[in-house]
Amino acid sequence: MKTYGHYLLGLAVAIAALQGCGRQTADRIVIDVARETAEVPSSLYGVFFEEITHSGDGGIYAEMIQNRGFEDGNAPSGTVIKDGRAQAAHLPCYFTDAYNDFTVRWRDGLAMKAWSVAALDGGKVSCEVVTDNPLNAATPHALRIDAGKSGTDVAVTNSGYWGIAVEKGKNYNLRFYVKADPSAGDKVEASVVDKAGNKVAERSFDLVRNGEWNEYRGALTASETGNDFSFRLLFPNKGRVYVDFVSLFPEETFNGRPNGMRKDVAGILQDLRPAFVRWPGGCIVEGLTMENRVKWKETIGDIVDRPGEYNLWGYRSTFGFGYHEFLQLCEDIGADGMFVCNAGMSCLFRNGDYYSTPEQLQELIDEALDAIEYAIGGPETYWGKERANNGHPEPFPLRYVEVGNENVGPRYAANYQLFYRAIKEKYPQIEVICALMFHPWLDEAGEVDIIDPHYYETPGWFYRNAYVYDKLPENYPYKIYVGEYAAVGRPLNLHSSLGEAAYLTGVERNADKVQLVSYAPLFQNSNHGKNHLIVLKNDSVYGRTNYHILKMFSHNRPDVNLATEFRPMEKAEQFRPNGYVGIRTGGSTAEFKDMKILQKNGEQLYATDWSDLGDKWVPKGGEWKVEGGVLSQTAMRGDAMLVLDEEEIGDCIIEMKVRKTGGAGFQIVFGGTDDNNYFMADIGSHGNESIIFREINEEEGNVSLFDFRHTYNVLKDKWYDVKIEIDGNVWRCWVDGVLEYEYTYLDEPRHYVVSGLDREKNEVVVKLVNSEAEAWSPRIELKHAGKIASTGEKIVLTSASPDDENDFGNPEKVVPVSSAMTGLGRSFEVECPPYSFTVIRIPCKK
Ligand code: AHR
Repeated sequence: MKTYGHYLLGLAVAIAALQGCGRQTADRIVIDVARETAEVPSSLYGVFFEEITHSGDGGIYAEMIQNRGFEDGNAPSGTVIKDGRAQAAHLPCYFTDAYNDFTVRWRDGLAMKAWSVAALDGGKVSCEVVTDNPLNAATPHALRIDAGKSGTDVAVTNSGYWGIAVEKGKNYNLRFYVKADPSAGDKVEASVVDKAGNKVAERSFDLVRNGEWNEYRGALTASETGNDFSFRLLFPNKGRVYVDFVSLFPEETFNGRPNGMRKDVAGILQDLRPAFVRWPGGCIVEGLTMENRVKWKETIGDIVDRPGEYNLWGYRSTFGFGYHEFLQLCEDIGADGMFVCNAGMSCLFRNGDYYSTPEQLQELIDEALDAIEYAIGGPETYWGKERANNGHPEPFPLRYVEVGNENVGPRYAANYQLFYRAIKEKYPQIEVICALMFHPWLDEAGEVDIIDPHYYETPGWFYRNAYVYDKLPENYPYKIYVGEYAAVGRPLNLHSSLGEAAYLTGVERNADKVQLVSYAPLFQNSNHGKNHLIVLKNDSVYGRTNYHILKMFSHNRPDVNLATEFRPMEKAEQFRPNGYVGIRTGGSTAEFKDMKILQKNGEQLYATDWSDLGDKWVPKGGEWKVEGGVLSQTAMRGDAMLVLDEEEIGDCIIEMKVRKTGGAGFQIVFGGTDDNNYFMADIGSHGNESIIFREINEEEGNVSLFDFRHTYNVLKDKWYDVKIEIDGNVWRCWVDGVLEYEYTYLDEPRHYVVSGLDREKNEVVVKLVNSEAEAWSPRIELKHAGKIASTGEKIVLTSASPDDENDFGNPEKVVPVSSAMTGLGRSFEVECPPYSFTVIRIPCKK
């Protein structure tokens, strides 16, 4: 097992060696070109798409009309609207057996989201979204307009996804449905209009007034360029009309696909050269309720018949970017498809209800098998024929199926086995992914090939965990797919992206274990923030700094790693916490008793029955009171902390009994130096799924400290014996006499390196992260190399400040710059600027 300790050991050896032969003047990176280590599979760098923050609708999917079918007012499936909330059925959660009784706030008026109806003179028009004349059963709502009651023509206007964007001279394909009474006017004018109502594109259609639904199609040509236009249908002020399914697409889509993707957005995705695309989620695969999950069969066929679904990220998905379009996109960008199916359980943090009967589970397994048949089945199969009917007789490149998303517990383990066996029996070539992370239920899950840990952590976690996979045993039984990772917390910028780069050096170094990785979330419409990998609005798109870093990794993936020793000049000092001790809750309530602090030798330093609460303890938020020797914290909202004042405690053992009375978990604080700097054992972290340590500091706020998240669920109303042991930089957390978690705190490294060989090009590829404010100039030594060219390539991503980030005003502020690098040889220095990610490519014969 390689550990970070081995690097330090290497360092000690190097220093000892140098004592006899002069001082080491630079950090050394020794690469043994003859010693190949982990193969780096071509599958490594992929992407994960989920409909979140308008990544699909209002994102990559080229549809320009929002709420095109007037279905946005539909409640999430499996809920009823009551008291302004969508309420899920009273059903037990698959993991806790408790009743989450999940509800989500529900606003009236969503049926008209993005639409407005008014007479041209500004007067009111009688109209309503109704179900009395459905266009089809799947999308029962339509807009009914009693146009004859207004004084002037009636404008039905859609604001698009935060504006309609058109480009002068370009064509836009319109499709819409109208059901007009004989008494209605005989024309409808479709146009794109500016804020003053001036038309920048228009077309008139003759209305068929036969009281039936009729489809209208035609192209509109833009006479101007702009991004804050609206789309308008103008009806004469006569009679009654129904309107439904209004759709406007640019004629030019990515690869010219009908119902296609935006050229610019799919283009930037393609530029990443992703090895795979994971679809459709994420939590939306699980759903708020089982009924609310993504049902792939509802996402294929004519878009007018797709019902859509409220997605748990707060809006309704049209699923215009459906299963077929996902597979088509994979083919178009040369990626493998990874389909995620529901594993029989809705999201644990939402309603958590589940399918329990064999019939119900079989239904879901069949749903997954049908999805595979749709993608790769022959034209003679039922779903293969459907695929051909939908325009693609050849199979699609579906390679993986993931069973569920972020699921936990024995019920998941049992279901997973059923899915695994059924899929493997029929489609042995499909790689099945288990949604468990490093969880104990893996032992119960039967055959597991690949697991899927997710990390949404602070930049500090990513900087610290570049060596996390080095700590796994060589014979670790599962391959790893890091399906979702992202540095989170604000602000996100070059600093956080370099943290991800540091982490990716560890992923690539261990690519025999971690065989696939994808950042999440992928796209973000800027009206929903600007923190995801790729940020877009209706007429433009840019990649954040981490997009460019990921692209550098993907474009410079070696075929195999080379043994690389990093020998820094200086050894980091070992940190030992020293400071106040305390107890804490965050969004939870708890009781504490029998608290004591011991020295390592067992000698008691302090004990309390809380009678000294007023003298010795300082509250920092929360509501604390003592009764019968039991201290309770009863405020549910916000962070509550109680600190043992003016005590400087270093190595020690903290013991107490704790009972959670509400919320997720509780924390034991140590090494505190002021209100903004302390450490804690977090028992019931990640929404009561784990035990980890944490550091609170001014720079980053709340930093998770763990290598592998240790699964733990704190039960309500149960007294726990908790013991925290601080032994220098080694910290242990015991619960009920069991050592649950041990963590070794090391200083955050500042420099990272990984190297490998591009076999085809005969190039050694070295990746270096420098997260310091000073330039870093390590000496690179190539051992056992054949002929080395003196000139290679250096690609550098950096910026003046670690706070820098790209934006619409300056989308290329921080992008990689490539140049020729001279002076290469067996030993040479490379200058890595402050706050930089550098790739060097050294032409080199083995
Ligand atoms: O990326 C957003 C969400 O984060 C995903 O849907 C889910 O898998 C994770 O919890």
